[in-house]
Amino acid sequence: MKHFDIKTHIYFGENSLDRLADIPYRNALLVADKFVVSSGLIHLITVRLQQNEVAWQVFDDVVPDPPLEKIGLGAQAVLKQRPDVLIAIGGGSAIDSAKAIREVSLQLEPSYARPALIAIPTTSGTGTEVTSFSVVSDPENCRKMPLVSDSMLPDEAILDAELVKSVPPSVTADTGMDVFTHALESYVSTNNTEFSAALAEKAIEIVGSFLLRSYLDNNDTHARQKMHVASCLAGLAFNTASLGLNHGMAHQLGSHFHIPHGRANAMLLPHIIEYNSDISKYSRSKTEYPKHVRKYATVARTLGLQNFNTVTTVRALSNWTQFMMKEMDMPLSISETGLCTKEEYFEQIPAMVRAALEDACTATNPRKPTPEDVTRLYAELW
Ligand SMILES: NC(=O)c1ccc[n+]([C@@H]2O[C@H](COP(=O)([O-])OP(=O)(O)OC[C@H]3O[C@@H](n4cnc5c(N)ncnc54)[C@H](O)[C@@H]3O)[C@@H](O)[C@H]2O)c1
Ligand SMILES: [Fe+2]
Repeated sequence: MKHFDIKTHIYFGENSLDRLADIPYRNALLVADKFVVSSGLIHLITVRLQQNEVAWQVFDDVVPDPPLEKIGLGAQAVLKQRPDVLIAIGGGSAIDSAKAIREVSLQLEPSYARPALIAIPTTSGTGTEVTSFSVVSDPENCRKMPLVSDSMLPDEAILDAELVKSVPPSVTADTGMDVFTHALESYVSTNNTEFSAALAEKAIEIVGSFLLRSYLDNNDTHARQKMHVASCLAGLAFNTASLGLNHGMAHQLGSHFHIPHGRANAMLLPHIIEYNSDISKYSRSKTEYPKHVRKYATVARTLGLQNFNTVTTVRALSNWTQFMMKEMDMPLSISETGLCTKEEYFEQIPAMVRAALEDACTATNPRKPTPEDVTRLYAELW
């Protein structure tokens, strides 16, 4: 038996932040990174809380790839203040932190009444405002792992594109490619259903039309609104269908080399598409293809990449991912990031391979990877 639920109430479109003037809570802890506070973005939230006479405090010790230590500090802040709502404002790092902070504080003190969680994304990328995933890091062991539990689902998500206007082009590129990876991986996941596929197809269509526009013009409000919705649609898709090897491998690039999450996903995409479909530039056509390969061809067609046959169509999809990265000035390989030497990178491959194979996302990849496959894929990425 299968099921499909959307637990999170989603408020979206112009003025959706006004929902904060109606929330039924009285005591809020805002969870944000330092940028959201220093840029003044947080005032868009607090002014509405003030109208609604909601008291608030701020926990702003959120950092990218949230480490367990910061989750512990956040839980202490929660137990000191005892809010009836946590409001997470920021990119995936802030929202994931708030999800984990709520769980840890409840584990530390089971008698504390469960606070609500409102997620307000300021990037159009992770979709975490509607997922039961929280990706946290254990820097001591160089691990980044998705925690997965329905109890982490936010109660409300507010998608107001006003908050993403300030996103710089490089973050638009990284997060936009994360949206595409969520939609694509969920679409070919072994757990996909008609419901997740419908959400993924719409997200892919929007990315194809609006990601470059958002990248090229920060003030293209229409494109930004569309990408904000696409991010959430892709989140809903992978929340039910899960992801695949692309994310399983990308998490390790984040924990070992701090490559931004969406950038790591984008670099891997052409390699994973070719690996999963077993189609490279040397491939000849076959009479039959597995279902997920036909699905890659469907995605290519959705993007307007109709081509001669299945091999050339899937190749066109792989080329499109690289085209998008070049258009958005993204590095195509680890060496181009300049973040480590070749020796430093290759030294970490065995540990990354082990962790990628254990990563919860890898389990639903349409092709079951071996340690040798993953080793080769990491090596190719250099
Ligand atoms: N839980 C999930 O379902 C899920 C899914 C995918 C990714 N993730 C995780 O989310 C994290 C990545 O999130 P992200 O890509 O949103 O990046 P992020 O939250 O780490 O933010 C990236 C940078 O953008 C800045 N930023 C955020 N909003 C901004 C704005 N409006 N204007 C200007 N700058 C802004 C931040 O300060 C930060 O410096 C990773 O840890 C990843 O593993 C979680
Ligand atoms: Fe992601």
